[in-house]
Amino acid sequence: MLSKENNDLLTRVSFGTPMGQLMRNYWIPASFAEKVAEPDCPPVRIRLLGEDLVLFCDSAGKLGLLEEACPHRLASIFYGRNEGGGIRCVYHGLKFDVNGNCIDAPCVPRSTSPEQLAQIKHSMKIKAYPCIERAGLIWTFMGEGVPPPFPELEWTLLPDSHRYTSRHIQECNWLQALEGGFDAPHLTFLHGGDHKDRTRDVVPSFYEVAQTDFGFIVATGREIVPEVVHWNLNVMLMPFHKIISTAPAAAHIWAPIDDETTMLYSIDFHPDRPLSETELQRARDGAWIHCENVPETDHSVRHRQNDYLIDRALQASGASFTGIKGFGTQDCAVQETMGSIVDRSRERLLIGDSAIVKLRRLLLQALRDQRDGRRPLGLNPASYRVRSLRCELPPDAKMSELMHELVRVDRKPAAVV
Ligand code: FES
Ligand SMILES: [Fe+2]
Repeated sequence: MLSKENNDLLTRVSFGTPMGQLMRNYWIPASFAEKVAEPDCPPVRIRLLGEDLVLFCDSAGKLGLLEEACPHRLASIFYGRNEGGGIRCVYHGLKFDVNGNCIDAPCVPRSTSPEQLAQIKHSMKIKAYPCIERAGLIWTFMGEGVPPPFPELEWTLLPDSHRYTSRHIQECNWLQALEGGFDAPHLTFLHGGDHKDRTRDVVPSFYEVAQTDFGFIVATGREIVPEVVHWNLNVMLMPFHKIISTAPAAAHIWAPIDDETTMLYSIDFHPDRPLSETELQRARDGAWIHCENVPETDHSVRHRQNDYLIDRALQASGASFTGIKGFGTQDCAVQETMGSIVDRSRERLLIGDSAIVKLRRLLLQALRDQRDGRRPLGLNPASYRVRSLRCELPPDAKMSELMHELVRVDRKPAAVV
């Protein structure tokens, strides 16, 4: 349970909110790169952290991400003409370059002096965010000052052949979607019947959460056979990344569109080889963590209005605990129907929620640290060189002491499976 005040603190991300300010310290995915691959191609509407933006590729191939509202009379520049080194508002013809500078103002009378014209253009500067292309995505930095170096997320450093990325819109706040990603007990139930991993048939007995230099580690332990604890260590990298300890490996990003909507990016990757055709086909089919989208959209075919196409006969048969197809859709079904922003003051938590509770406390601490002027976690790019993993250890092993070393990519002890 969380007070309404703390619930607001953790979930609200628009400009000027504490969590919104924290998020603006990091690179955030805005689009697939292929949507703006050609110079002067049609611009793309983007909404991130509650801000409406327009992404475009200018005549020289440079990327611009500008505020959607034209500074003159606030018409949408999405309808603009992308030509000759900038995007021109179709209402009165003001033109902006990728840095947000007004570079042409043809609606100003010819009698205007050069000094006055320069002043008018200066006053028409539009908000612009820097963009960078990494791993097939366009990322942006929405904070103040110089952007940090790009984080060394393992999946972003691989060749394209080693990675597959999909995305879909989740109709709920980013935090309850992220919390679902670190909710270990739900694997036994929500995804029951669909997975072949029999260790998931047992609910965890042990929970450890620790703050690190990149974010947090959430470790859950199951005693499946006596004297052996099967641990699953999941890393949460600031501000909204998760790596999943499967083979091939996987990752999520819960990028807030606004307070009540989230763009969930789902990535399958293999660190050492290209993904196989079978692995690629599974992802293209919208199975596993991916969703089957309505063609040419980011909206899932299975959604709240059609009850996620739940198949009650399949549910009754026991072959699927939910009767809903796909892990990703099963997650959406429970996370979205909790409410757009779940009221955590009404929860009645159980022991299995202890990892989530600790994660919330650590995120609240990160907000207090920010208020007190401390440097946010995860701004050292090398700190992201971590993996989620599974390992088996004796019951007396001190996971709270081991976990920091275990997740480092280049420092795996022999006990790790
Ligand atoms: S509103 Fe854009 S030029 Fe007037
Ligand atoms: Fe899940």
